[in-house]
Amino acid sequence: MSDEVQFSLTVDGTSHEVTAGWSESLLTVLRDRLGVRGPKTGCAHGRCGACAVRADLGDGDAHVLCACLVPAATAAGGSVQTIASINGPDGELSDVQEAFLAEGAVQCGICTAGFVTAATELLETNPDPTRTDIEDALYGNLCRCTGYGRIVAAVETAARTRREQEDPVPLSTRTRAASLWTGLEEVR
Ligand code: FES
Ligand code: FES
Repeated sequence: MSDEVQFSLTVDGTSHEVTAGWSESLLTVLRDRLGVRGPKTGCAHGRCGACAVRADLGDGDAHVLCACLVPAATAAGGSVQTIASINGPDGELSDVQEAFLAEGAVQCGICTAGFVTAATELLETNPDPTRTDIEDALYGNLCRCTGYGRIVAAVETAARTRREQEDPVPLSTRTRAASLWTGLEEVR
């Protein structure tokens, strides 16, 4: 009896017909069968988060999981969002990715897709996270290069920037600030 199964899987909005071993991991299917290289292979044992993707395993409830731990066949009929579709529609960096760069939270990069995936989900569910919320959300992600301070700072920056864009400084405050600045210029 063949141990291969066939199923459909949507990855970053594109539908695929997949043939895979019944115990083959979602990470192996993504990287080796479909050529989706955003999720990285780190420990391959659910301990580092480098392979994190956001997946709906067919129950309509998408959440971040370790693709190395999930048999791909359990995602039959479901959908997966990788770092490739966290980018903007034209491939531009997301605000979270921009913040990681700005805060120096990227070095070798093996962990980065997993951190950005987890942080993106956090900010979608909690736009104003505390430091503890961020640390809890990133608990399953390991980084050997940067230390975690810069990564946490990047998520704080992304959250703050997003809130400021959604709730810009009131015009009256900006006008007051502008007139103060003008006054300073006149004093000089
Ligand atoms: S590669 Fe999946 S958790 Fe490390
Ligand atoms: S940047 Fe190298 S492991 Fe995180």
